[in-house]
Amino acid sequence: MSLHLTIDDLKSQARRRVPTMFFDYADSGGWTESTYRANEEDFKKIKFRQRVLVDMDNRTLETTMIGEKVSMPVALAPTGSTGMQHADGEMLAAQAAEEFGVPFTLSTMAICSIEDVASVTKKPFWFQLYVMRDKDFVYNLIDRAKAANCSALVLTLDLQILAQRHKDLRNGLSAPPKMTPSNILDMAIRPRWVMGMLGTKRRTFRNIVGHAKGVTDLSSLKAWTDEQFDPSLSWKDVEWIRERWGGKLILKGILDKEDAEMATRTGADAIIVSNHGGRQLDGAPSSISVLEEIVEKVGDRIEVHMDGGIRSGQDVLKALCLGAKGTYIGRPFLYGLGADGKRGVTRALEIIRKELDMTLALCGRRDINTVGKDMLYR
Ligand code: FNR
Repeated sequence: MSLHLTIDDLKSQARRRVPTMFFDYADSGGWTESTYRANEEDFKKIKFRQRVLVDMDNRTLETTMIGEKVSMPVALAPTGSTGMQHADGEMLAAQAAEEFGVPFTLSTMAICSIEDVASVTKKPFWFQLYVMRDKDFVYNLIDRAKAANCSALVLTLDLQILAQRHKDLRNGLSAPPKMTPSNILDMAIRPRWVMGMLGTKRRTFRNIVGHAKGVTDLSSLKAWTDEQFDPSLSWKDVEWIRERWGGKLILKGILDKEDAEMATRTGADAIIVSNHGGRQLDGAPSSISVLEEIVEKVGDRIEVHMDGGIRSGQDVLKALCLGAKGTYIGRPFLYGLGADGKRGVTRALEIIRKELDMTLALCGRRDINTVGKDMLYR
C-alpha cells in the first residue's frame, strides 16, 4: 500500500522533490493569503450527520458534469506552469485523469500545449481560456482547442489583472526564473527533478510561444503577458467567445450571486464558484461559504460547480451537499504530480475517491446523486 494516505502526505513529498520556487508557486495565495487559508479552513466548520443501520451496499460515485459521464464529480482544475512541478506535467496529469474517468482542464498558461496533451490522450479534455488583448491570438487558441476535439471551454473571468503573490517575488520566479546562487543550489539538491527537465523539450509555455505575435522565447513571453491580459473584458465578450467556440462553455471565477445571475443569461452551461484558489482577491470569502447562496439564486438554470480548498473526499461531499454538481481540485493534483509524476496524480484521485466513498456510506447514502443539505448540521 502507498505510504501517501492523505493529500498532505503528497504535499510533504512534493516539497522535498520540487525546487522551492515552483513548489511555492503552487502553495501560495494573493497578499496575506487569508482567502487561500479560508478556502481550506471553512470546510472544517461543516459537520456531517452520522447515520446507522442503513443499507450501504452497492454504492456509486458516478454522475455527470455538463452532461459528461464522470467516475466521481471531481475534475482537475486548470493550473498554469504545471509542467514545472514535473517534466511534461500536463500530459501526465491528463493521462491520469483520463484513466480515472474524470475531466482534465488544460490552462492557457500551461507548459505543454493543447496539441501535446491531445497527442497522449484518447478522450476529449477541457481547455481553459484567458482572454488576451490580441484577439487574433484568442481566436486561434479557440480554434486550436476545437481542432484538438476539446469537449468544453472553461472561460476564466477573475484574472484580468494579476494579483501579487509575495512568495513568487521573493523567490525570483519569473520567465525565465532568476538563477541566483540559492536557486541554483536549491535545484542542485533535487537531481531527479532536474534530470526530468533536461529530458524534455517542453519547457516553455507552448500554447503561446511560437503562436503569439513576437513571442519566440521566455523573455519575449514575459513582455507579452505583462501587457496582454485584457482588463476591459466584459459580459459582452462572453457572447462572441461562446459563438466562436460553439460547444459547452463553463464560466470560472464567480463568487457573487449577482454575477451568477448574469452568468445564467449568457447561455453558458455551468459556472465555477471560485476565487482562483485564493490567488486573486485576498479578503474575498472562501468558495464553500458562498456556494449555497449562489445555488439558491440560480436554481437549476445553470449547473453550479465549485473549487477552492478541497483537500479530501469529505470536502467534495460537503460541496455536493450544498448544491454543487461538480468540484475541481488544483493543488491536490499538483502535489501528487510533484511527489510522484503521473502515479502521484492517480494517488491524489484515489485518496479523494476513497474518502468520498466511505464518508458517503457513513452518512447513510449509497448514491452520490442523492446527497443534500439534510446530511449536514446547519
Ligand atoms: C491556478 N488556477 C488557475 N486558474 C485558471 O483558470 N487558469 C490558470 O492558469 C490557473 N493557474 C493556477 C496555477 C496554480 C499553481 C494554482 C494553484 C491555481 C486556479 C485553479 O484553477 C483553481 O481555481 C484553484 O487551484 C482551486 O483551488 P485549490 O484546489 O488549489 O485549493
